[in-house]
Amino acid sequence: MTTFREHQLEQAIAGLPRVTLGVLPTPLEPLPRLSQALGGPPIYIKRDDLTGLGFGGNKTRMLELSLAHALEQGANTIVFGAAVQSNYCRQLAAACAKLGLELHLVLRPEREIDKQEIQGNQLLQRLFGAHVTILRDRDRPQQQEALAAKVAELQAAGKRVYWPRRPDTIDLDAIAYAQTALEIVRQCRELSIAPASLYAAANDTTQAGLVLGLAFLESPLRVRGFNPLHHAPDTLPNLVRMANQAAQRLDLDIELTAAHFDNTDAFVGERYGIPTPAGIEALQLMARTEGILLDPVYTSKALSALVAHIRKGVLPPDEPVLFLHTGGAPALFGYAQEVLA
Ligand SMILES: Cc1ncc(COP(=O)(O)O)c(C=O)c1O
Repeated sequence: MTTFREHQLEQAIAGLPRVTLGVLPTPLEPLPRLSQALGGPPIYIKRDDLTGLGFGGNKTRMLELSLAHALEQGANTIVFGAAVQSNYCRQLAAACAKLGLELHLVLRPEREIDKQEIQGNQLLQRLFGAHVTILRDRDRPQQQEALAAKVAELQAAGKRVYWPRRPDTIDLDAIAYAQTALEIVRQCRELSIAPASLYAAANDTTQAGLVLGLAFLESPLRVRGFNPLHHAPDTLPNLVRMANQAAQRLDLDIELTAAHFDNTDAFVGERYGIPTPAGIEALQLMARTEGILLDPVYTSKALSALVAHIRKGVLPPDEPVLFLHTGGAPALFGYAQEVLA
């Protein structure tokens, strides 16, 4: 059964240029041993760690749209910057390898070890052939300047450069998650489950797209976003802006407001990129009950929120709850000491 609104959303997304990179749809399945270990409600997981390309993760879906846009613009070179252990950069590097695009990454170390050790995502970025520059410290404004300088340098050398996730194209990444919302709604229907909450590690595009998709589909499923960063003044306005920009690109008659969004930084701990004891406990629990690997920076902190909520008894015991696995396990190797602590 496909409802009219599902068809409308599907058709709108299908109208965008796309390159196929991932293996979709990803499974949605129960986690009976984790539920039992927590004495909690039935927990289901959406396996976006299994999107396939370069060890998978949420960004693979996004790159299908953004790199199609880059190719449409005639780009032959991609420039991007994030943290040394960035999952986005690892998936981007795999995608660029597959599409024959030259990739330059300007990465900021979050910890001292990021400057010394080539492990995890950084190892894979290099293996996929990316040109990697590691900055001296984690200053984000300086990273933006270094990125702008890299773009100018490559353009002066005659390259046709594309810088993804800029304000005018970031909604493409959100649209990828409006499509995930569609998958989730359909899979829940097939499994005859009606979860009320979806727990996810989310800073921007993932939640913007999910919330847009679910709201457009008139689903009662509420996204509970657990931010890997401490909130900035523009965190919430950004989520709203990205969702509405995506709605506009898709020509959907809907307007999101701040009231549609539930996003907290309560489980970040010290700061972005530094694991928390509760996150490590959650990560070990998932590994040891279900054989599923989370990551130390994003998904482990989101699961620690679900664990905390179950232990506090705030979730109804019979109501299924959904956890979105957004990937990131390759970072485990860059955090080996923290993960087994
Ligand atoms: C594993 C993982 N989960 C969640 C996120 C958050 O995604 P978004 O930036 O779309 O909120 C990221 C972002 O890099 C990630 O790598």
